[in-house]
Amino acid sequence: MSESDRSTLFELMGGAETVRRIVEAFYPKVQQHPLLAPLFPSDIGPVIDKQYLFLSQFFGGPSLYSDAHGHPMMRARHMPFPITVERADAWLGCMSEAMVEVGIPNDLRDFLLDRLKGSAYHFVNTPADE
Ligand code: HEM
Repeated sequence: MSESDRSTLFELMGGAETVRRIVEAFYPKVQQHPLLAPLFPSDIGPVIDKQYLFLSQFFGGPSLYSDAHGHPMMRARHMPFPITVERADAWLGCMSEAMVEVGIPNDLRDFLLDRLKGSAYHFVNTPADE
């Protein structure tokens, strides 16, 4: 295995700075989305910070989220919010747009989104016709 085979997605993306830029591009889109906006607090700063910690870890970077907040248990942390398939699609759509905005190459973007898709649909906890 060569050195490059061991690179993490976090490194391939451009590390901490890129993750930060993605989450900062992402939440304004979430706040504009009619299906997502009502779920989020208007003070979005703390959510941006947590998502930065989490996605750094999720993509293979340092375990910043667990160090600060303990076991991620992400599905459980999303249980208070009614997450439908439509909301999962909307979340992924905002994330895709954020990655385009930040200049992530298409093939890497597809790969990253595919990873996130598994989690997003796993967090669905409410039927479409709630
Ligand atoms: C499927 C659609 C999703 C919806 C509708 C959604 C919605 C939310 C909401 C409403 C919060 C709480 C915000 C607050 O008041 O603090 C939250 C927190 C969070 N979400 Fe999501 N989310 C989704 C998917 C995801 C995915 C795919 C990830 C990452 C893989 C993720 C990671 C997080 C993180 C890290 C937090 C902060 C958790 C904490 O409080 O420590 N979410 N999400």
